[in-house]
Amino acid sequence: TRPTLIAPSILASDFSRLGEEVAAVAKAGADWIHLDVMDGHFVPNITFGPPIIKAIRDRTDKVFDCHLMITPADPYLEAFAEAGCDVITVHAEAGPHLHRSLQTIRRLGKKAGVSLNPSTPENVIEYVLDEVDLVLLMTVNPGFGGQAFIPSVIDKIKRVRAMIGHRPIDIEIDGGVTPETASAVVKAGANVLVAGSAVFRGAGEADYRDNIAAIRKS
Ligand code: DX5
Ligand code: ZN
Repeated sequence: TRPTLIAPSILASDFSRLGEEVAAVAKAGADWIHLDVMDGHFVPNITFGPPIIKAIRDRTDKVFDCHLMITPADPYLEAFAEAGCDVITVHAEAGPHLHRSLQTIRRLGKKAGVSLNPSTPENVIEYVLDEVDLVLLMTVNPGFGGQAFIPSVIDKIKRVRAMIGHRPIDIEIDGGVTPETASAVVKAGANVLVAGSAVFRGAGEADYRDNIAAIRKS
């Protein structure tokens, strides 16, 4: 089995001190840094894009895990690759040419991820599994941090785990991950846990370390 990784979402950090926040959470034990990109169109919120990601890239060597909640995504994939993203995840719901988007990400030399909203059935990724390095299952409706975990997704995690078989694909969970919900998603087969508000509680490295440790322990 693959090791369980924690990917704090900087969406819940203090944006006025973004560089320091990234450095602090990296030192506090984050495995990956999760970057939530929102366009006010695919989701009802707007966050940041490639220039901001590029500006914080030198604050840590950790994997930059970029979650694109934008449509269309294809015209921007190269810019996100150049900004320093290592994993680039697009939503299956965001465009009609998922296979092409995934191929483009890999052609740019990056790991390709596909994300599914809570209401989207897992069969939409059946024919792209060989183009995919990561499946990101949303456990909240995308757009905002701090929402409640949707438990029906647990079943979907198990089904995706079965579909993947022996392929080297990560299953990532995003939304409402806390020390209370983390163990159920890992038991169901997830190995990368995004957590925003549960990690960026308090202020600074010491608090973030405690928060990450609490999720890991669970
Ligand atoms: C939601 C984002 C999540 C969000 C998670 O659209 O994709 O990454 O920041 O935040 P929490 O952990 O607070 O639910
Ligand atoms: Zn996310």
